[in-house]
Amino acid sequence: MPPTRVIIDTDPGIDDTLALILAFASPELKVEAITTVAGNVPVAQAARNVCLLLELVDPHPRPPVAIGAAHPLTRPLRTAEGYHGEDGLGELSRFRTEAGVLRYPEPQQRLASQSAPALIAEIIGGAPGEIVVICIGPLTNLAMAIQAAPTQMAKVKEIVIMGGAIHVPGNVTPGAEFNLYTDPDAARLVFTSGLPITLVPLDVTERVMLTVELIDAVVRHIGNRMTRFVRDTTERLFGVEHGRMGRTATPLHDPLAVGVVIDPSLVTRRPFHVEMETGDGPAQGMTIADRRQIREEWKRPPNLQVCTEVDAGRFIALFLERICRLPV
Ligand code: BDR
Ligand code: CA
Repeated sequence: MPPTRVIIDTDPGIDDTLALILAFASPELKVEAITTVAGNVPVAQAARNVCLLLELVDPHPRPPVAIGAAHPLTRPLRTAEGYHGEDGLGELSRFRTEAGVLRYPEPQQRLASQSAPALIAEIIGGAPGEIVVICIGPLTNLAMAIQAAPTQMAKVKEIVIMGGAIHVPGNVTPGAEFNLYTDPDAARLVFTSGLPITLVPLDVTERVMLTVELIDAVVRHIGNRMTRFVRDTTERLFGVEHGRMGRTATPLHDPLAVGVVIDPSLVTRRPFHVEMETGDGPAQGMTIADRRQIREEWKRPPNLQVCTEVDAGRFIALFLERICRLPV
């Protein structure tokens, strides 16, 4: 089987970088481009973080990196440095080599000349039915691409979105998940586009947990550049998680969205009609799925395939095996 061709739209973000590492370590995928969006951090910082990661992984060929939307479609940006650290990657400038130089130097990679929405539409339009877009940040770039180039975007194979909370509470407000809460107008536009969408919500991503014990064991077993990076970038986050939730573990939200494309059998999907709440009240950014136990013909037709179950043990094993594969 040839690898699945993917575009990853991202706002790194610690778990975003773990998702990128998983993608590059997986022969089932070919990363055609990485596009960045404002979310966890401002978009310029997101692009810088992607470049840092690319210089660390050094994939061949190296995909283009395009910068995208600097803010949500109609609202001000609310970032998440409290969770991800000032740089979005767990404050990596703390780490020095024995010689005292930065362990993670400033990246030099140049950005693509096109905007993220233009690059997404161009790649999809040039490869009808072949491209999967994996969205692991707010949906602003995707919505802009659909608005500007609907004919090209109609040629997408699948859109896999990390976002939403269907049967479980939110993580940024009591009801809403961060990515969709950040730009609910974009999410509504995407959900009503008629394009084939798989949603990877908190229902499944909160079940795939990276623990501090697991990552320490991996570094002891294979102490290479990549496993050390994973430990360094998550170190501060485990402290944040402990303060907030009393746990020394963090959900692998974004890596699971990549995992679903690597191996679709990791999850169970169910069709739902899902609407976005875009009002300014306490339900802002919530995903309202029609979960009523009534005959299907009395409901509006499903617009999303929603992941409702995950084989968490198998996914964690896959994630750990893959991060150990990358070069020392
Ligand atoms: C999502 O929010 C972000 O902070 C993470 O990177 C992930 O994409 C989880 O709600
Ligand atoms: Ca993200």
